[in-house]
Amino acid sequence: MSNKIAVFASGTGSNFDAIMEACDKGTLNADVTLLVSDKINAAVIEKAQKRNVDTVVFNPKSFENKAEFEKALLADCQARDVEWIILAGYMRLIGSTLLEAYPKRIINIHPSLLPAFPGKDAIGQAIDKKVKVTGVTVHFVDDGMDTGPIIAQEALSISEEDTKDEVRRKIQAVEHQLYPQVIQSLLIKEEAK
Ligand code: GRF
Repeated sequence: MSNKIAVFASGTGSNFDAIMEACDKGTLNADVTLLVSDKINAAVIEKAQKRNVDTVVFNPKSFENKAEFEKALLADCQARDVEWIILAGYMRLIGSTLLEAYPKRIINIHPSLLPAFPGKDAIGQAIDKKVKVTGVTVHFVDDGMDTGPIIAQEALSISEEDTKDEVRRKIQAVEHQLYPQVIQSLLIKEEAK
């Protein structure tokens, strides 16, 4: 039986695509039943629609507070029997409503070797520090900014000659392999429990 997952994303959606491709290939035994976005113009929305994935696009400003919009998102997830929430470029902190409903079931991918360079523009932060090695981290989500327990990391070398776009391309190539693999290994572990 495949596991029902929701992807939350605010941007381009290259990780969303990588997850969908892994599902198509059968290397990820999951069914993406929902795409949630907080950005009305996010490119990921069209990607989801093309693949006939239900989309929920919300404007946080039309809710009184985070708890209110998370209650609505929780209802959207529960209506589709979502078991895991996969953040893929979702640019908001997750609040207690979703964290309590999905304990250790919300996962994020971040473009640095955490705990180095949390928050926004991790790639720019790494370049500014002239690091020689950076990478990708997949972690459980808690109430902090990229602070939850680390599940997997992959390092890669960068050089001073690399432009920011080149570093981003290297990082995303790693992300697109790593994220579906890590999600699959979590699903297998959970099934074995
Ligand atoms: C990824 O680099 C991810 O690490 C970060 O946001 C970016 C999303 O990219 N959290 P995309 O929208 O999946 O292309």
